[in-house]
Amino acid sequence: MVKAVVLGASGGIGQPLSLLLKASPLVDELALYDVVNTPGVAADLSHISSTAKITGYLPKDDGLKNALTGADIVVIPAGIPRKPGMTRDDLFKINAGIVRDLATGIAAHSPKAFVLVISNPVNSTVPIAAEVLKAAGVFDPKRLFGVTTLDVVRAETFTQVYSGKKVPSDATVPVIGGHSGPTIVPLFSKVSPKFEIPADKYEDLVHRVQFGGDEVVKAKDGAGSATLSMAYAGFRFAEAVIKASKGEKGIVEPTFVYLPGVAGGDEIVKATGVEFFSTPVELGPNGAEKAINILDGVTAREQELIAEAIKGLQTNIETGVQFIKNPA
Ligand code: NAI
Repeated sequence: MVKAVVLGASGGIGQPLSLLLKASPLVDELALYDVVNTPGVAADLSHISSTAKITGYLPKDDGLKNALTGADIVVIPAGIPRKPGMTRDDLFKINAGIVRDLATGIAAHSPKAFVLVISNPVNSTVPIAAEVLKAAGVFDPKRLFGVTTLDVVRAETFTQVYSGKKVPSDATVPVIGGHSGPTIVPLFSKVSPKFEIPADKYEDLVHRVQFGGDEVVKAKDGAGSATLSMAYAGFRFAEAVIKASKGEKGIVEPTFVYLPGVAGGDEIVKATGVEFFSTPVELGPNGAEKAINILDGVTAREQELIAEAIKGLQTNIETGVQFIKNPA
C-alpha cells in the first residue's frame, strides 16, 4: 500500500500533479494539503474511477498532521512561483519559511517518508529541509530529493531537434549540478545513445536547458511559471521513487541529494567541493541507493560549466543552511 501526499496541492503544479497521482495504479491513498481549496480539489479528483482513496486537508483541525500521518512519499510544490524578471533566488524569503514549516511537519508526522522538494529555489530549499530534519534527529539523506527532473525533460525535448531521436525512450540526457540558471549543467558528452551536436548549436542548446523556465515565465506574462510540464516531471520522478521502493531494479534518475549520506557520494564531494548536488542516482527500496559519478571524461567546456555551477551552488546551499542555523 502506498500513501502519497501533496503539500501545496491546490496550486498550478499541485493540481495536475495530484491528478497524475490519483490516476496512477501505483498509488493506493492520496492526501492533498494546502492553505486553500483542497476540499474542492479532492472532491473533484474523487470522481475519477481509479483506486486511490483521496482526502483533502486545510491547516485547521490538524490538517497537516492528518495529511502526513502514514505517508510513504511526500511531494512539495508549495510556495510562490516566479513572475517575469524574477530569478528563483528572489523567491527565497517566502518559500524558505514555507518549506521549513512543512519539513517540521514531516519530521513530526512522517519522518520515514520519501520527501520530494519541488518548491524553488531548490538549491536552497533542499538544504533547508535537510537542516530541519537533522535538528529533529530524523534526517535520512537517502530519502530527501530535490526534484530536477524538469531540467532532464527539457534537455531530452530540446535535444530531439539535433539528434533525430524520439524521446523519452531513445535519448537519456544527464543533467547535473543544481536547479537554477548556470547551476544547471546538461552533459551532452554523456548522452546515450551517443550523438553529435553541431558546434554552432551547442551553446544555444545549453542556454535553452539552463533558462528554459524563463521561456514559460515570459509566455505566461505574470501568471506564473512552469506548472504542467513540472507536474509531468514531478510525477515521473515520484513514479520512479515508488517503483524502486517496490523492488524494481535499474531505475536511475538525476536528483539533487545530500551526497555524504548516499553511497558513492563522497567521491563527488571530493570532485566538486559541494555536499548537495544533482547527479544520476540509482533508486532502490530505501530511496537513493547510489550516487553515480559521471564527472570523469567530460569535455573542457563541460568542465567550465561545472565550475560555474559549483560557484553558484556554494552560495545557494549556504543560504539555505544559514536560514535554519542562524535565523535572522
Ligand atoms: P502556485 O502559486 O500556483 O501554487 C502554490 C501553492 O502552494 C498554492 O496553492 C498555495 O496556496 C500553496 N501554499 C502556499 N503556502 C503554503 C503552505 N504553507 N502550505 C501548503 N501550501 C501552501 O505555484 P506553482 O506554480 O504551483 O509553483 C509552486 C512552486 O514550485 C514554486 O516555488 C515554483 O517556483 C516551484 N517550481 C519548481 C520547479 C522545479 O523544477 N523544481 C519548476 C516550476 C516551479
